[in-house]
Amino acid sequence: MREAIHNLEASKIREVANAGMGRSDVLAFWFGEGDEVTPEPIRRAAIESLQEGETFYAHNLGLPELREAVARYMSGLHPAIDAGRIAITSGGVSALMLAVQALVDAGDEVVAVTPVWPNLIAQPAILGARLRSVPLVPKEGQWTLELDALRAAVTSATKLLILNAPNNPTGWTLTRAEQQAILDHCRQTGTWILADEVYERLYYDEATFNGCAPSFLDVAAPDDRLVVVHSFSKSFLMTGWRLGWLVLPPTMVEDMGKLIEFNTSCTSVFTQRAGIAALAHSAEITPRVVAHLKTCRDTLVPLLAGLPGVQVAPARGGMYAFFRLEGFDDSLVLAKRLVAEAGLGLAPGNAFAPEAQGWLRWCFASQDPQRLVRGVERLRGWLAVQARA
Ligand SMILES: Cc1ncc(COP(=O)(O)O)c(C=O)c1O
Repeated sequence: MREAIHNLEASKIREVANAGMGRSDVLAFWFGEGDEVTPEPIRRAAIESLQEGETFYAHNLGLPELREAVARYMSGLHPAIDAGRIAITSGGVSALMLAVQALVDAGDEVVAVTPVWPNLIAQPAILGARLRSVPLVPKEGQWTLELDALRAAVTSATKLLILNAPNNPTGWTLTRAEQQAILDHCRQTGTWILADEVYERLYYDEATFNGCAPSFLDVAAPDDRLVVVHSFSKSFLMTGWRLGWLVLPPTMVEDMGKLIEFNTSCTSVFTQRAGIAALAHSAEITPRVVAHLKTCRDTLVPLLAGLPGVQVAPARGGMYAFFRLEGFDDSLVLAKRLVAEAGLGLAPGNAFAPEAQGWLRWCFASQDPQRLVRGVERLRGWLAVQARA
């Protein structure tokens, strides 16, 4: 076994979830997915595809009609994007891994903005990269980027900069001005940018950006050293389908096709047909999903903020409340205690970076917002017991 694999850290989120799985009395908010089934037109498209016998290998880069549909959809949100720049992947996580495989050699320096979903750190580590992190800084519960610290960390020795905004777990988002500044800097240092924008539609500041978070695609030219990762999982309620895509500079596309051959060869055709249906219905599905998530966020965050000793700010994007409880400094111990003693399942903040030690992540994607209210009641009750102890 390679040392890099042997040294991979087991998921702390799983560690907490394993302690509570199978217990019907636990209200679980630990994983990053909702509890609503994929919309019917999407499921129907996959069923019809299978019934028509679409059970064969497909093109490495995806069905031309899906690549076209993705390009049309993206061009509606950002400056026009050619279908030739799109590669269909088996989920966002595979898109991320492909991008890292394509860009990073063993020993290369990779900088990541953290806290972040652990997969984004593990993937370069698997390939033997040297990782450095630029921590976001919490200010009154809102995690913020110190641009100068980022600029100081990314030098001509940095092969790749990894950013995820809107961010899992903190809800941090990048402004367009920050994206422009980061792009300008990376142009100077020759650093590639890997932008994980899977949460771009789960963005709550509609006043400024019309239902879509600022994207590096809005400021970059097609031939910039920029790879953008997307997924059907969050905006179309399709986590289990494993369907995502990459937006690539034109010169990378042919090689990416070869790399996909050696990873998954292609994404199954019936899944891609489901993707085409999802995009055809995006104007109904995504705004409904986002409006509901906003209701969930606006239900949960004020209740959390009203608890004694809680530090929290409303997420600008994504589907998580990230918060801190005064007096509880070990996230993993706290998350396990909450499962055992309060029947409340949350993800420990230190799963996402050492600097998030003491924080907890609560996925607010709940079909029934009252589940969130019940969760807060459990937390309130547990805190009251601790205060008396
Ligand atoms: C930041 C981030 N990127 C990518 C993904 C990958 O999503 P999927 O592989 O389901 O497309 C996730 C999933 O939780 C995520 O949180």
